[in-house]
Amino acid sequence: MWSLNVVTVCGTLLCAINCLPRFPHKIHSRFPLRYILRFETNVIMRCIKCKDYYYHQFKLLTFSHYPRQGNIRVFCRVRPLLDSETDKCKDMSHVQFTTNDKKAIVLAKMEESRTGRDRKVELKYDFSFDHVFNPKARQVEVFEEIAQLVQSALDGYNVCIFAYGQTGSGKTYTMEGPDDITTETNGMIPRAVNQIFLSAAKMESMGWTFNFTANFLEIYNESLRDLLVTKPEKNTEYEIKLVSSTSEQLHVTNLKYVPVSTEAEVHKLLTVAKANRSVAKTAANDRSSRSHSVFQLQIHGKHAQRELQCTSILSLVDLAGSERLDKSQSKGDRLREAQAINTSLSCLGHVITSLSNKDSHIPYRNSKLTYLLQSSLGGNSKTLMFVNISPLDENFSESLNSLRFASKVNECIIGTAQANRK
Ligand SMILES: Nc1ncnc2c1ncn2[C@@H]1O[C@H](COP(=O)(O)OP(=O)(O)OP(=O)(O)O)[C@@H](O)[C@H]1O
Ligand SMILES: [Mg+2]
Repeated sequence: MWSLNVVTVCGTLLCAINCLPRFPHKIHSRFPLRYILRFETNVIMRCIKCKDYYYHQFKLLTFSHYPRQGNIRVFCRVRPLLDSETDKCKDMSHVQFTTNDKKAIVLAKMEESRTGRDRKVELKYDFSFDHVFNPKARQVEVFEEIAQLVQSALDGYNVCIFAYGQTGSGKTYTMEGPDDITTETNGMIPRAVNQIFLSAAKMESMGWTFNFTANFLEIYNESLRDLLVTKPEKNTEYEIKLVSSTSEQLHVTNLKYVPVSTEAEVHKLLTVAKANRSVAKTAANDRSSRSHSVFQLQIHGKHAQRELQCTSILSLVDLAGSERLDKSQSKGDRLREAQAINTSLSCLGHVITSLSNKDSHIPYRNSKLTYLLQSSLGGNSKTLMFVNISPLDENFSESLNSLRFASKVNECIIGTAQANRK
């Protein structure tokens, strides 16, 4: 380890002095990234030649070694206008992107000037996130940006990715894909599963063996349901409990935890879960998710020869969307669902605020959602939130609220994730 560090430090110094064209790069590229020290990454960042060379490794740095670690990362995605919406919304000039800056998004709107009645002024709201995807972004491009984060689940890090946004903004599309799913439109969950099994197979050729267990639940009207059970027995109680009094890990009583060994097995489970999920047609979305869905893959890796073990959980969450009850005009079941959704999302907001304020008490237990995600929001986990935005100008104020909430989430320090390795 020491000798590796000495060599990489020498390489970095050469970078720092004059960025010799080949030698330093060759030194660095031989070693796993974890042997590159933090001060070295700063030097490399300032060197144009190296920066180019290390482009892919920097993506990795953003998630594992880069000093800003500890925050909940936020990616913003604006969905395209649907064919059915082109009458309602002629253009998307109120949502602005910067060509060279993939982190910025601006909401703009014309307002009456306070000084003169007939003059309008443009109000601009600037936001900056870890990445902003414009409506043209394909699923594959979005996944490219989270691939390294997913990969780190195999290295023993707990990883949680969740999609947040108003109803109809594209959360389910991002996480699962559309109804008529194709290899092009596959969402983050199926892509993450594919990557995990592909990488596990590569690591197995290096002596690792992996065991995987999957579960998939939904939180509907503040109660838990197993999405892998098509005909649940009446009165089955699903309760969130600690695995043991000495562990911080949670489990859900009576939930189906299915051992899986191939991606095809997981895809079958995803199909069952999709059919069982609570969805309904609403004014805003033909297939609106009326529940929060949580897919989890527990990973246990072992390298017998090197006596290494690692355990982790990959959690992929598609939240139900917030909706304004006056606008959606929901009634009956839809109204009850919307109220439960809004309440649990505001509990999520309170948890985020408490974390940002570094309060001594964080109200995780006020909702099933925050209790279940407790370790991802405030604990030892690498967490990323997608904030999904609708392109319709009639949704301007909801988009503004979502982006403001997302900025708050982005500032939230949740502590540095540690790999669960022995
Ligand atoms: N990036 C995209 N490209 C093409 N169509 C999209 C995209 N994002 C969303 N859509 C379409 O927009 C509609 C609403 O998306 P989706 O169902 O994912 O919203 P949602 O945020 O999950 O809403 P809810 O909270 O009501 O469940 C769907 O018809 C979906 O196929
Ligand atoms: Mg949805």
